[in-house]
Amino acid sequence: MQRFDVIIIGAGAAGLMCAATAGYRGRNVLVLDHAKQAGKKILISGGGRCNFTNRNVEPNNYVCGNPHFVKSALARYSSQDFIELVERHGVDYHERDHGQLFCNDSAKDIVNILMTECDWAGAKVQLRTEILSVIKKEAGFELSTSDGDFSCESLVIATGGLSMPKLGATPFGYKIAEKFGLNVLPTSAGLVPFTWHSDDKQMFEPLSGIAVPSTITAKNGMQFSEALLFTHRGISGPAVLQISSYWQPGETIEINLLPNMDAEQALFQQREKHPKQSLRNTLSQWLPKRLVETLFNEALLDKALNQLIHAEVDQLVKDLHQWQLLMNGTEGYRTAEVTLGGVDTNELSSKTMESKNVAGLYFIGEVMDVSGWLGGFNFAWSWASGVACGRDC
Ligand code: FDA
Repeated sequence: MQRFDVIIIGAGAAGLMCAATAGYRGRNVLVLDHAKQAGKKILISGGGRCNFTNRNVEPNNYVCGNPHFVKSALARYSSQDFIELVERHGVDYHERDHGQLFCNDSAKDIVNILMTECDWAGAKVQLRTEILSVIKKEAGFELSTSDGDFSCESLVIATGGLSMPKLGATPFGYKIAEKFGLNVLPTSAGLVPFTWHSDDKQMFEPLSGIAVPSTITAKNGMQFSEALLFTHRGISGPAVLQISSYWQPGETIEINLLPNMDAEQALFQQREKHPKQSLRNTLSQWLPKRLVETLFNEALLDKALNQLIHAEVDQLVKDLHQWQLLMNGTEGYRTAEVTLGGVDTNELSSKTMESKNVAGLYFIGEVMDVSGWLGGFNFAWSWASGVACGRDC
């Protein structure tokens, strides 16, 4: 049996960050992962350029059963701390809209930073290792794996959520939590495209590829103003992905297709200037023609602006600014960027991520009930929770 101070299961963003932090404290650290490669999700993130953090990380950028939980870790390891790490390693990056930071070259740079840090900190990373069992002993834990038996004082679970099973996602972390009596909140896919009901699919499928600015509002009042993209299966794009984390099955979402104008006022002004212009031509100046022709019936679109009656204008304005959509569901874990729900944060210390009831057992990263918005917030949580734990475990 090989003995370590700390064993971390999961060589992803949170696990590697935690390993380096604990290693620098002089802890003897082993990271175990069943994958062939460390940080697989980092490698594919941000379209291969990894949106590694955001300039403005705030607690309200997170979905969590206990909204205060994230505050301590985020305050003690800020996005600026990670930016400084990236700069120390000489990795060039750039800023996109809303403070999102991406590597100039490749997401590999982020994995290299983490692996180098682990190396410098003396933390060992062992891949291709299946965890067969985990047993609690009086002083620590014993693990049986496909590559031998190990024991440790502190056990850190950093196995992520359920999104993208083909990248190696498993429910391992939830099972361990349940085994040790921790509450696990129901999980679902987050930051994920919506799918059409079969009737709507036929009507909207031809719009696939069209993108428009939008403001989307969920039933609970959360609202995001960003692009909406029509796809073969449904709708996607940043605004849709963001709102999906606040959506419950069976709820409608409200879409403002003209978020930057007042449609009623614009219609009146247009009628003053061009009373004989058809509604079709008017709307097609503001929205893609294919979308206009799908949303409104031909007879209405053929009307001249001065032929429209009040009720028609009212309905039109409502449809443009408050389009109510009942989606069938989401594309699920197959394409979701994150998993909502997970290990209940009420079971964990917000300072160290240690279980309140099982000494030496820690949960970090996405396996917990903490999900960030699109824009680098999920990695920001992986870094912050990994460091919080690494300073204690
Ligand atoms: P992560 O999933 O990274 O790591 C878990 C590790 O545990 C994996 O290495 C896995 O192999 C291992 N593991 C799982 N089960 C195991 C078992 N049974 N035994 C042993 N090992 C096991 N976020 C962001 O901030 N910016 C971005 O640009 C993106 N982009 C993005 C794109 C795509 C396509 C996805 C799917 C996700 C993103 N994300 C993102 C989200 C981000 O990738 C995610 O939140 C973090 O990777 C979570 O880090 P963790 O370390 O918690 O889990």
